[in-house]
Formats: sequence, C-alpha cells, structure tokens
Amino acid sequence: MNNTDTFINSRLEERKLAGSYRTLKAESNLIDFCSNDYLGFARSMELKNNVNNYLEKQTQYLNGATGSRLLSGNTAFYEALETEIACFHQAEAGLIFNSGYDANLGLFSSLPQRGDTIITDELIHASIIDGTRLSYATRYKFKHNDLTSLEDKLKHAKGNCYIGIESIYSMDGDQAPIEAILTLAETYNAKVIVDEAHAIGVFGKGLINQQGLDDKVFARVITFGKALGTHGAIVLGSRLLRDYLINFARSFIYTTAASFQQIATIKMAYELLQQSDKQQRLLSNNITLFKSQLGAAYNLIESNSAIQSLIISDNKRTSEIAKTIQSKGFDIRPILSPTIPAGTERLRICLHCYNTESEISNLTNLLKQLLHD
Ligand SMILES: Cc1ncc(COP(=O)(O)O)c(C=O)c1O
Repeated sequence: MNNTDTFINSRLEERKLAGSYRTLKAESNLIDFCSNDYLGFARSMELKNNVNNYLEKQTQYLNGATGSRLLSGNTAFYEALETEIACFHQAEAGLIFNSGYDANLGLFSSLPQRGDTIITDELIHASIIDGTRLSYATRYKFKHNDLTSLEDKLKHAKGNCYIGIESIYSMDGDQAPIEAILTLAETYNAKVIVDEAHAIGVFGKGLINQQGLDDKVFARVITFGKALGTHGAIVLGSRLLRDYLINFARSFIYTTAASFQQIATIKMAYELLQQSDKQQRLLSNNITLFKSQLGAAYNLIESNSAIQSLIISDNKRTSEIAKTIQSKGFDIRPILSPTIPAGTERLRICLHCYNTESEISNLTNLLKQLLHD
C-alpha cells in the first residue's frame, strides 16, 4: 500500500475502533423518527401537485440555471422570490444560497475581517464553524446558552464583533436565550446572527419573528431543507448586507445557481406554509405527547422543539440501542462523538406531524424497556 492509502486506512480503522465509522444507508421502510421533514412537506402530495401545476404553466424556464447568479444564472423570478421571503420574515432583504451550509459558510467567512471577533455557542452547527475557520477574525466559543461565559468572551472582543447562535440547536433541540443574548450584545456593541434552520415552520416564521425580535438581529439564516421540505437557504438582513454578500461571499459567487424548478419549489413551499397551520398543530401535539410519555425519569434534554435528544453516553451502547430500536421498525439514529462531544452520545429523535399516537407510544414504551435493562 502506498503512503496515502495507509493513511486513509488507518484513519478509517480509528473510526471503527471508536465505534464512530460512518456509512451511507439507502431509504428504509422504517417509521420516520429521524428526518428533518417536521411538517411532512417533503412527502406532501399537495406540494408536489402545486409544483407540477406551477411548472406546467411556465413554458419558458430552462432545465438548469446555466451559470452563477453573477453571470448567466440570475433571473427576475429569483430576485422576486428573495423579496417575497424577506417580506414574509419581516426582514429588509434576503439572498438565496444553494444550501444552509453554503449560506453559513459565505456569511461567516466573508463578513468578519482580520482584527474582528466572532463568538459562537459551543454547540453551533458545523457550517458556521467552517465559515468562521475561513475568516481571519479571532474566534471564541462560549459555553452552551451560558450568558456569563458569553460576557466573558465579549470583554475580550476587538474590532467588529459578531455572535453566532442557533434559535433551536440542531443536536440538543433546545432554545437559545435570544432576548438575553441580544441585550448583552447591545451592551458590547456586538451583532447577532441567528441560524433558524430548526425553528422555521416548527415555530411559525421562526423564533425571532415569534418573539418580535426581527429588528434586533443583524442577520438570520433560514434553511429550506428541513420543515419546508425542499433545499437551499436564505440569509436575511439589510439591503447593505445583501449587496456585501453578493460581492464577497465566495459560496454565493463561485457556484452555479439553483435551477428554476428548485426555486419554484421553494416558492410553493412558502405558499403552503401560509395556507394552514394544521401541520404545525399536529407536530406540536406530538411533541407534547412524546415528552409526557417519556417523563422526567429519562435523560431527555429539555426541548420544546421537534428534536428530542436522549443522552445515553458511550458510542457503542448508543449504537447498540439504536440498532435494537431499528430492528423493531423505528428509524432513529444514534448521534456519536466526534459529531457531538464524547460523553453526550445520544439517540436523537425527530418528531413529525405525520407520526401517529400509536407510533409514538410504541416507541416510548420500547425506549423505557431498553433503558431499564
Ligand atoms: C443548524 C443548521 N444550520 C445549517 C444547516 C445546513 O443546512 P443545509 O442542510 O441546507 O445545508 C443545518 C443542517 O444540517 C443545520 O442543522
């Protein structure tokens, strides 16, 4: 074996030994307690029909965007949709990126400069971490949702200071103390950027809007691949920020724009979201049911969102329990270190509007049995 293959093999062996080897799995027939399709939009026949009907009426569109937004890939339709979505979220402007990963990468890498400071929650999503790594600013992490720890870092901040948080954390499902963070940020003249990937749709237009904080945050990232059931993301903020990102966000500039079909699907998903709150109510009932059935005796992280994480600790034990649950017909996935810190390995259970009462009861009964063994 040459040196590169030896290196690759040894890294993969390390993963296997740690019980954290990753493999791809094709779709299964198991009951979905793992996807991000919280409102069932990805599987919605209504959304599919609306998209098909809409596309049928548009005879002019191309199969692909043919280039980046700055070259041949931009359309009036694209820009009108950005305005529509920004209005819906009560933001001044918005810029669509091809994914939430791209949006965070572009925003966090281009805005903070050498001499500036970025402070992020220790549980922040990998896309934000990667964005901050590409910037030349000084980076600090603060303890999860801990205002004292955040203030400690703010005291050391230099230059323009940015705080990165999620309104609902993707691995724990808990909420950030957004208002308190905004108050602290104001004291230290820092700008707050909020990733709303897991709040949009689950909590109406997102938690920032629900808490009346639209004017207080510097920017928001809304992703379309979770409750909206499609793909892509938008950065919401001022017109000035939008112009800046068009000029400096490399993950926006150097990539082919999304196709018309993709953009039209996002438009239809937003229309469906505004038509009824039935799916949101069903989801909310399921979250309440799941939590009440599992009770306080279990190591469930406090969360009112669709993400309910049950800490098991230890990669091997978490994997084994997940495998047993999968063998009984439920699709739940173990989340292992290094994706999350060692010692917090967990079963991450995602609830949806389409999970039935009996599915939830059967799952919670099984969890109780397994965790008492
Ligand atoms: C909090 C958060 N931000 C951003 C992303 C990335 O979004 P996307 O899947 O659209 O790239 C995710 C998805 O995993 C996420 O959980």
